[in-house]
Amino acid sequence: MHDPQLAADGRLRHLLTLDGLGRARIETLLDRAARLRAAWRAGQGLPRSLERRTVVNLFFEPSTRTRTSFELAARRLGADVVNFDIGSSSTSKGETLEDTLATLEAMDADAFVVRHRENGTPARLAAHAQRAAVLNAGDGNHAHPTQGLLDMFTIRRHKGEFGKLKVAIVGDIMHSRVARSQIQALKALGVAELRVVAPKTLLPMAVEKLGVHPCTRMEEGLDGVDVVMMLRLQRERMQGAHIPSEHEYFNLYGLTPAKLALAAKDAIVMHPGPMNRGLEIDSAVADGPQSVILPQVTYGIAVRMAVMA
Ligand code: CP
Repeated sequence: MHDPQLAADGRLRHLLTLDGLGRARIETLLDRAARLRAAWRAGQGLPRSLERRTVVNLFFEPSTRTRTSFELAARRLGADVVNFDIGSSSTSKGETLEDTLATLEAMDADAFVVRHRENGTPARLAAHAQRAAVLNAGDGNHAHPTQGLLDMFTIRRHKGEFGKLKVAIVGDIMHSRVARSQIQALKALGVAELRVVAPKTLLPMAVEKLGVHPCTRMEEGLDGVDVVMMLRLQRERMQGAHIPSEHEYFNLYGLTPAKLALAAKDAIVMHPGPMNRGLEIDSAVADGPQSVILPQVTYGIAVRMAVMA
């Protein structure tokens, strides 16, 4: 079956998901991100590979990290950037997303960075695009591919070889597009052991089919891991009660210094942000010496430059 993110010649035209992208393509993107980051840090000129190109940020859900870092990444490579204001646009008069995309393509937009609450919206727009690329900046609980890539960049930089690592993804797996992209990337890169840790109510049905080991207790899930990837509790996507109370959730699944001590001594702590401090993570851990949460944000610019280049 044809992969909708590939052009007819096999080139990666859109970035909709990490599912099926494969180890070689992921590593190529991470290597390119490393070169771009090194050049930026050394004060060398970056390639103007997006000069005379226009990137449109189409965010139908809030964002701080993804939207800003896509904009910075595009500008650093020479692109013009339009931050499309959904609220004051003609989408509020009933214009369809397809017509909005066609209208902006008629103004020579070259790429759309799309975030939407409904699974599949970036793929739908990619199928409709005549010439432009569509980059998924997060759709529903389906995928957040550039977050997955920047997380892999972070792990590779701080921990090295994936084949030697034990990784735990902790929290609201059920509603998390980040978790899905992380799992796909970690499996593609050959991680030694991958656990997902959550109460039963926040684990998707048959999650083990994704090639992960589900755990409902932090004592089991964090034991000896090299990387702890925390997730935000996605209250905006929950229908009904998935946790007994926030207080109990923090007691059982919140990452505190005592729970982090179950992991390897040199384990790193990650979080895609935004964080709910005191709910899924204690500030002593979020701001502690094992946290690489702000470096993740920094690497996001290099990774998004690599994707757009
Ligand atoms: N990690 C992430 O997607 O953050 P934002 O919602 O701030 O973009």
